[in-house]
Amino acid sequence: AKGLMGRDLTSIADLSVAELAAILELAHTVKAQPEDFRHALDAKQMVMFFEKPSLRTRLTFEVAMNTTGGNAMFVDQKGEPLGERESIPDVAHNVERWTNVIVLRTFAHDTVTEMAENAKVPVINALSDLEHPCQAIADFMTLEERFGSVEGLKFAYVGDGNNVCHSLMLAGALLGVHTTIATPKGYEPNLDIIHKTIEIAEASGGSLTLTHDAAKAATGADAIYTDAVYSMGQENEATKRAPIFKPYQVNAELMSKALESAVFMHCLPAHRNAEVTDEVLDGPQSVVFDQAENRMHAQKAITLMLLGGAKKLPANHKR
Ligand code: CP
Ligand code: NVA
Repeated sequence: AKGLMGRDLTSIADLSVAELAAILELAHTVKAQPEDFRHALDAKQMVMFFEKPSLRTRLTFEVAMNTTGGNAMFVDQKGEPLGERESIPDVAHNVERWTNVIVLRTFAHDTVTEMAENAKVPVINALSDLEHPCQAIADFMTLEERFGSVEGLKFAYVGDGNNVCHSLMLAGALLGVHTTIATPKGYEPNLDIIHKTIEIAEASGGSLTLTHDAAKAATGADAIYTDAVYSMGQENEATKRAPIFKPYQVNAELMSKALESAVFMHCLPAHRNAEVTDEVLDGPQSVVFDQAENRMHAQKAITLMLLGGAKKLPANHKR
């Protein structure tokens, strides 16, 4: 996967099976041997433009850069969407002269792709309305830690068919996972993503099943994943969505339909006792803080791959 150097990560669909596997392998390696990568990104500069709040994504990118010799700069774009003060191509043509990688968290996915088309440096999607690729990479890293290979794993996603769901579908398809998505009517995943997922799954031996029945998705599953009932920017839909998503709450009863060995997953932040009960979120099957930890290792792997710092330094290197 030398081919990842200089590339963008706007969507999981940007990646081949081998490229996703290479990122995951590197993520496990940097987690096990962080010191080997202490100077891998010496003096590299990351700029992060965020139109939405963030705890995990922001801090894990910052820690990832700061512990591999690089630096990350955060630009708050809340209340001032990218492209408003200055066109996105103009922003790109400035920033590419000073920095080595651009990270974007946006409402419109087009903002991410427009930046990627215009910037000479790699562009990473840190969550758009369509996808959250870095999240899905950390999540499959977490599943690999638990289950070894994830090929053939039964993965259930219950809830809103949104950005996180989309990236999980695509990553699962690349990795040969059997994914079932249970959403309320009207909250199904994006059609383009569904078609891409099916196409990829056919080649990898994975599969995609769509349903409106949460119990059906959960039955016999190795993992049950849910995301916020309402996402950032949809706060005014909270009241409308609450009853619609009630049957999709991950609670002890739904978990009991999964395998005994099943894990519960959530990208966080959680709306406690909305999409998931405290009992499940804080329970023994929950791996949500492993996911959160792995965001940091995955961010390192992603950045190292795109910036060409993935080569491990010799064990006895002196810097
Ligand atoms: N899971 C995730 O992306 O969290 P933040 O919104 O806090 O970055
Ligand atoms: N779907 C959520 C994910 C947050 C990490 C959102 O877009 O707000």
